[in-house]
Amino acid sequence: MHDIVLIPGDGIGPEITDSVTTILKEAGAEINWLEHIAGLEAYDEVGNPLPDDTLEALKEYKLALKGPLTTPVGSGFRSVNVALRKELQLYSNIRPAKTLPHIESRFDKVDLVMFRENTEGLYIGKEQWVEENSHAESIAVVTRRASEKIIRAAFQYARNNNRHKLTLVHKANILKYTCGLFLEVGHDVAKEFPDIHFEDLIVDNMAMQMVMRPEQFDVIVTTNLFGDILSDLASGLIGGLGLTGAANIGDDAAMFEAVHGSAPDIAGQNKANPTAFLLSALMMLEHIGENRIAKNIRNAIYKTLADKSVCTPDIGGSGSTETYTRAVCDNL
Ligand code: NAI
Ligand code: MG
Repeated sequence: MHDIVLIPGDGIGPEITDSVTTILKEAGAEINWLEHIAGLEAYDEVGNPLPDDTLEALKEYKLALKGPLTTPVGSGFRSVNVALRKELQLYSNIRPAKTLPHIESRFDKVDLVMFRENTEGLYIGKEQWVEENSHAESIAVVTRRASEKIIRAAFQYARNNNRHKLTLVHKANILKYTCGLFLEVGHDVAKEFPDIHFEDLIVDNMAMQMVMRPEQFDVIVTTNLFGDILSDLASGLIGGLGLTGAANIGDDAAMFEAVHGSAPDIAGQNKANPTAFLLSALMMLEHIGENRIAKNIRNAIYKTLADKSVCTPDIGGSGSTETYTRAVCDNL
C-alpha cells in the first residue's frame, strides 16, 4: 500500500481527480489517498491557499498527486504551485510530449521531454513598484547550484532512457548574466556526458523550430519561464493540453500534476479530458515502481482514444469525462 497525498484542486480538478482515482483503483493500484485542500478552495474555506496541514502532509509523505490550482491574476494570492515546488525543492519539472495513437495533429513523430527549472528564474516573486501603477520591476535569479541540478537531471534522464540529444534553450545573447550562467553550466555539465549530443538554441529560434520541425528534438532543458511557455507549445504539437502529463521531482520528494491549469471555461461541465492528469499519474506509478499497472493503463488509454464516441470534445470526441473514464476502465 502506498501513502500518497491527493490534492483535487480547482476548476476541472475534482472531475479529473475522480476519473484518475477511479481508473487507478480499477487497475489494481494499492494506494492510500490522503486528501488535502489547496488553492482557491482552501482560500475560500480557511483563508489560506496553502493550509499548514496540507504542507505538513506533503513534507511527511513526500509524494503527491495534485490537480490544477487557480492563481488569480493581479491581486489575490501568489501561486501555490510555485510555492509548493520551491518549498519541497522539486527542482525538475519534467514534461514529455509524445505523439499519441488516434489523435489528429500536424505531426506524427513528436517525442520530446522538456526539463523546466522549477525553483528560480523569474518565478521567485521578487517584483515591486518603483513608482506605484506606472513603473514596475521584476528580478530573475539563476544560480550555478540550481542550474547544475536541473541540467544534470536532464542529461541523466537522457542517458537512462536511451535518448541521444540534449537541447539547452536560453536567451544568453540578451540576458548575459542569468541565461549566460545557465548556458555556461550546460557546457560544463555536458563534459560529464560525452555519450549525449549537446546543443544550445536561443529561445525565439526554438519556438520557430518547434512549430516547424518538432521531430528533431529529444530532451530539452531550459529555465523556468521559457519552460512554462514552451511546454504548453509542446502540448499543442501533439493535440492539446488535455494530453500532457508532468512530474515535479526533487532529491527526496515528488509531486505529479498535468501541464494544464484549472480550465475555468469548461469546469463543472463533464467536458474535461482526464488523459493529461492520468498520464501524470502513470509517471507517478512508474516513479514508485508500479510499472506493470502503469503499462496496463497506458494500453487502455490508447485503445480508448480510438473510439471518438467516448472521448472528450477537445480531441474531437462526442463523449464526456465520464464516458471516457468508463471506457478506459472497460479497456483495462
Ligand atoms: P488552462 O491550462 O487552465 O486552460 C487553457 C485552455 O486549455 C482552456 O481553453 C481549457 O479549457 C483547455 N484545457 C486545459 N486543460 C484541459 C483538459 N484537461 N481538457 C480539455 N481542455 C483543457 O490555462 P488558463 O486558462 O490560462 O489558466 C486557468 C488557471 O489555471 C489560472 O488560474 C492559472 O494560474 C492556473 N494554472 C495552474 C496550473 C497548475 O496548477 N499547475 C498550470 C497552469 C495554469
Ligand atoms: Mg504553465
